[in-house]
Amino acid sequence: MQAGIESISIYTSQYYLDLKALANQSGEDPNKYYIGIGQQRMSVPPPDEDVVTLAANATAQALQGIDTTALDTFLFATETGIDQSKAAGIYVHELVRLPKNMRVFELKQACYSGAGGLSMAVPYLLHHPDRKVLIVAADVARYGIGSIGEPTQGAGAVAMVLSTNPTIMTFDLESGLYTNDVMDFWRPNYADEALVDGKYSIKMYITALREAWQQYTGITGRPFGDFHRFVYHLPFTKMADKAHQFLVRHANAELNQEEWQRQIDDAAIYQRFIGNTYAGSVFVALTSLLDNSQEDLAGKRIGLFSYGSGSVGEFFSGIVQQGYKAYLKKALHHEIIAGRAELDYETYREFYTFKSRLPTDGAVMQTPKYNAGRYRFAGLADHKRLYEVVV
Ligand code: CAA
Repeated sequence: MQAGIESISIYTSQYYLDLKALANQSGEDPNKYYIGIGQQRMSVPPPDEDVVTLAANATAQALQGIDTTALDTFLFATETGIDQSKAAGIYVHELVRLPKNMRVFELKQACYSGAGGLSMAVPYLLHHPDRKVLIVAADVARYGIGSIGEPTQGAGAVAMVLSTNPTIMTFDLESGLYTNDVMDFWRPNYADEALVDGKYSIKMYITALREAWQQYTGITGRPFGDFHRFVYHLPFTKMADKAHQFLVRHANAELNQEEWQRQIDDAAIYQRFIGNTYAGSVFVALTSLLDNSQEDLAGKRIGLFSYGSGSVGEFFSGIVQQGYKAYLKKALHHEIIAGRAELDYETYREFYTFKSRLPTDGAVMQTPKYNAGRYRFAGLADHKRLYEVVV
């Protein structure tokens, strides 16, 4: 028996900023963003969107055609928490009408927590083969206007139903792990924006990859050649090039640039247009690979690397299942990404700064209506966040 993905779906904000608009402001050459970091656009949430609405949209999509009565666990991975106590997943649970007899809680470790949830869910399902687990990773990547990280912002969610009927992908039980206390990226409780030591964070990512890979290969004995494709956490798409180039060299794999690039390129397609989705990023990348690979990946082993600053890295792997294409939501994902409205720079600033205008004194506030999909953050009253279903 094996456990893995029965359904997977992504969602992103319906507004974006083209990075050339940012380049016009910062005085940078747009190619620094388009080519240098490999990012074209970044999704920007409107005032009535947050991780709950992003997650609810992705969850509703992922649950289409799924029998939810077997769901007993909902893990919500985010570093954009909306409350210090209550899990954001509980709002999602109500919005998408999940069964009451289940557990819901939040996971945090920067961009790693989605992968952490998966590594707990797979053995759980093998012990409880009649159950299903929902993992949703949702984040809004914010670094601050004019900051070094600004072009690597983004927003989105990915929802996955895991079960012992893994029609899309199964996961191997072994993985390589690495934890190291470093300050490469963090967000103090009083801050709305992440602080980052950009170049150092790239170094720490590669260190974690090296160490996690080392442990993975030590445990499994699997050589580099066993992997058909690689899916990396993508803070920006060029990061996968840096990481994979390193791994190819480190593993003494004899591949030319065209060959190693083919192993990672399909996974980067969505990210290039959405931007960083933090905890969801490695699974948005996996969705991108499965949706966009022209090649039939059935039966192929995929290597995945998740990195959460601070830091935790995990190298894990899985096998794509026969007939998986019938269970993907490729057309929907393409529609969501292509259907977004472009923002001018001023409106981006207005959306960005809206958060700082939310009342903190319990006053009533209704958020202006934008397109937040089927679920919107309607406002605040008496220190409580209010959500509604858009009919
Ligand atoms: N045409 C083409 N390329 C150009 C160019 C141009 N006109 N101008 C510059 N470039 C290239 C540079 O040569 C450089 O390439 P290399 O990295 O291959 O050397 C690239 O564009 C970026 O240029 P800089 O290094 O000068 O960019 P920067 O100083 O503005 O910083 C960054 C880039 C570090 C990614 C920054 O945006 C940042 O700090 N982002 C947030 C942190 C981050 O994403 N870290 C990743 C690892 S941590 C992690 O993964 C967790 C997470 O999600 C945060």
